[in-house]
Amino acid sequence: MPSESILTNKHIILGVTGSIAAYKACALASQLTQHGALVDVIMTEAATRFVLPLVFQSLTGRLAYTTMWQTDTSGGLGTHIAHVGLGHGADLLLIAPITANTMARIAYGLADDLLSVTTLAANCPILVAPAMDVGMYENPTTQANIDILRARGVHFAGPGIGRMASGLEGLGRFIDSEEIVGHCRRVLGMSGPLAGRRVVITAGPTREPLDPVRYLTNYSSGKQGFAIAQAAVDAGAEVTLIAGPVSLPAPIGALRVDVTDTRSMRDAVLAHATGDAPADALIMAAAVADFRPAEMANHKIKKKREQAPAPIDLIENPDILYEVSQQAHRPTVAVGFAAESDDLIAHAQEKLARKKLNLIVANDITAGDAGFAVDTNRVVFITPKEVDELPLMSKEAVAKCIVDWVAKKLGSPQNSGR
Ligand code: PMT
Repeated sequence: MPSESILTNKHIILGVTGSIAAYKACALASQLTQHGALVDVIMTEAATRFVLPLVFQSLTGRLAYTTMWQTDTSGGLGTHIAHVGLGHGADLLLIAPITANTMARIAYGLADDLLSVTTLAANCPILVAPAMDVGMYENPTTQANIDILRARGVHFAGPGIGRMASGLEGLGRFIDSEEIVGHCRRVLGMSGPLAGRRVVITAGPTREPLDPVRYLTNYSSGKQGFAIAQAAVDAGAEVTLIAGPVSLPAPIGALRVDVTDTRSMRDAVLAHATGDAPADALIMAAAVADFRPAEMANHKIKKKREQAPAPIDLIENPDILYEVSQQAHRPTVAVGFAAESDDLIAHAQEKLARKKLNLIVANDITAGDAGFAVDTNRVVFITPKEVDELPLMSKEAVAKCIVDWVAKKLGSPQNSGR
């Protein structure tokens, strides 16, 4: 079960139209519900030919609406005028899948079924996920309708490129439900406390090459940093996620910059967080290698018979946060992590001062339920003035606490002077 997020208790209307991808909307309805959203499904008549309303009703635990003329809303909407009640109470109207036909109808303001009248009456953000054949999608009429909807502020999720039910390949494929959930978070977060702010986040390990097949690294999975990136997107920030080598998907809406070693992470951080237009905040959750092999061998280092292996000489890597602190134009708020195995607070306080941070998030990496690779963390927030011990939480919950702290520190965007 996903932990509390921007989707929790949000009222989402899920419009489902008559595409074969309607069956994938079942997984989408289920995922949104598991995230704690209250999902009211409206199906067009064509959609009911692909999937029974009962399926959505069973997945969401709420009434699935199919007609404008429905008056018995027991167990559902508390009003008999469904199209007004549904549209006004919602946080988001998501139409997924949306066909070329429904796009054309809402672009021109037609209002002859429950979904089209709800769309016309809605005063919440609208997000659509197209699904249709490549020829229909690329048709100039469809493209013109897309332009109309975009110009009116409708948000789009996809379509993707790939194989369609017809067997054809091309643009028009319904994107994965996880991605659509990501778009819902992006759109719901747009007016959040970090709207208009630029936040750079680092995550994962760095890899320091020894020879073409070996490297020095650490156990960082990227989970904590990626959770912070998602929390920052949820709060409306423009997010750049600088990621060491990990296989996690980046949050929808974040710009991902992949790096491998400490020096490439340093270059990316300086390019994205400092300079003439520095980021508003830098949050460094990456586990950066302090040392690297003094030399990288050009060939695989061979085992030599009856000879001890040659020792590896190490040299110091650049300290990225320290370098940032020395820049003339640096982020307004700088947050570091401290991964410690002993004397947690004292070591973290020393790093806070030396790297000129506003906040250091200290975690004991010897605990089994905190630090590297696990899904939970137990952290201490340390500022120049305070030490605040937080209880054991999911990494998502820790991420939200950090993002809330940063948002409070930055204040409203009008205070930034930019
Ligand atoms: O990725 P996960 O598996 O979810 O694990 C999360 C985590 C344990 C990696 C994370 O919570 C964490 O503690 N990250 C910081 C790890 C680290 O490098 O700590 P440090 O105490 O060595 O460094 C202090 C700070 O300086 C960190 O913000 C680090 O990013 C930064 N640093 C470190 C070395 C260096 N050469 N340059 C730096 O900027």
